[in-house]
Amino acid sequence: MTGPVEGFSKLTKTEKIAWLANHYTAHPDETKKLLERYWNSDIQLQQLHDEFIENTITNYYLPLGIAPNFLINDQLHAIPMAIEESSVVAAASKAAKFWLARGGFKAKVLSTEKIGQVHFMFHGDPQKLQAFFDTLHPILIKDAAAITKNMEKRGGGITKITLRDCTDDLPNYYQLHCCFETLDAMGANFINSCLEQFASTLKRESQQHAPFTETEKAIEVVMSILSNYVPNCLVRAEVSCPVDQLSLSKTVAPQVFAEKMIRAVQIANVSPYRAVTHNKGIMNGIDAVVLATGNDFRAVEAGVHAYASKDGQYSSLTHAQIVDGIFSFWIEIPLALGTVGGLTKLHPLVKLALEILGKPSAKELMQIVAVAGLAQNFAAVSSLVTTGIQEGHMKMHLMNILNQLGATGEQKKKIIAHFKTNTVTHSAVVAVFEQLKNNE
Ligand code: MEV
Repeated sequence: MTGPVEGFSKLTKTEKIAWLANHYTAHPDETKKLLERYWNSDIQLQQLHDEFIENTITNYYLPLGIAPNFLINDQLHAIPMAIEESSVVAAASKAAKFWLARGGFKAKVLSTEKIGQVHFMFHGDPQKLQAFFDTLHPILIKDAAAITKNMEKRGGGITKITLRDCTDDLPNYYQLHCCFETLDAMGANFINSCLEQFASTLKRESQQHAPFTETEKAIEVVMSILSNYVPNCLVRAEVSCPVDQLSLSKTVAPQVFAEKMIRAVQIANVSPYRAVTHNKGIMNGIDAVVLATGNDFRAVEAGVHAYASKDGQYSSLTHAQIVDGIFSFWIEIPLALGTVGGLTKLHPLVKLALEILGKPSAKELMQIVAVAGLAQNFAAVSSLVTTGIQEGHMKMHLMNILNQLGATGEQKKKIIAHFKTNTVTHSAVVAVFEQLKNNE
């Protein structure tokens, strides 16, 4: 262990690595070699990645996979997914292929409203504050004009600002609750710049507002920040087909399968323990596409899970029903995504992912991401209610085990062939590997 370091960010990359390796790792030379192995030999590309964040020491790889055959609103897509979990891309591809033969996915953006708030404290008469706000509103818009000009030219901008009295929740607490249309941008920078301008206008104007007492003039702005909860930035994706076409499993009849799927969703609606895992499966698909397209998966995660609790209990994000012999399975989720700005022009693989998706607008990307989540959930739950997931999971995990064991290409081929007809467990793989090695 070591004491604190001063000026770490000012060290060169090599110095940072040397300090880290010497102070925190048992084998500094090996650590240095390992970190350097992950540097890109293209110096410019490496510099680009180094400058995404502070104190970069190397790159952290995730596999980028492709799930093909996604028919979305009658258009075929191959979906790029960045994820480490072995079964996710395979599951998405399987669901895509299944629904390709049944009309594909239908997706629709329901709304695109983004939200931001100026949180402030006001000690005084709420009615006087409301009257002040009515005079303030046009000034807020005017003062932000330089920031909103370009966005407005493209058809977006500030759509609404309201004063919210939150004093029942916290004494003297109010908000400027602000709504935005940010078009193809996720909009975080735009929104936060507008909000900080609103905050400074609010402070300035309150100090000059004659009807206010001195105490009322001293509005305290606590913070100005966008909200990642976007319940009015919603997308819906759906699949449906006659129940008798749900021939997914040899052992489970279509009607029984459909009913089991509905039961599984009902369970996720009433049991938060199950709902969290159910929704985690959805996020396997969503995060992977969000990450591949350079979007902020933490923002998406936070917003989606808040939405899953919007009725007072955390519940399923997907829904299922049978009406007149038609099985439908759908998802409705908030997604604040961008296809311009951020990493979209900077990260070469993000650019490529967006190209593969046909350079989508933010609305199109919302649809694709929602479909990936729905597909993932369909794949997971359909396995859970039929064979269970371990069979498929362990087949996919087999390669990880073989890599851990250091199996050669030839050994992998033989062992994979063996486990086509045998159950994969860690100990079974080790046993077959040892046997193979002994016979070589
Ligand atoms: C594993 O990453 C995801 C699942 O647990 C999802 C689910 O249970 O629905 C298989």
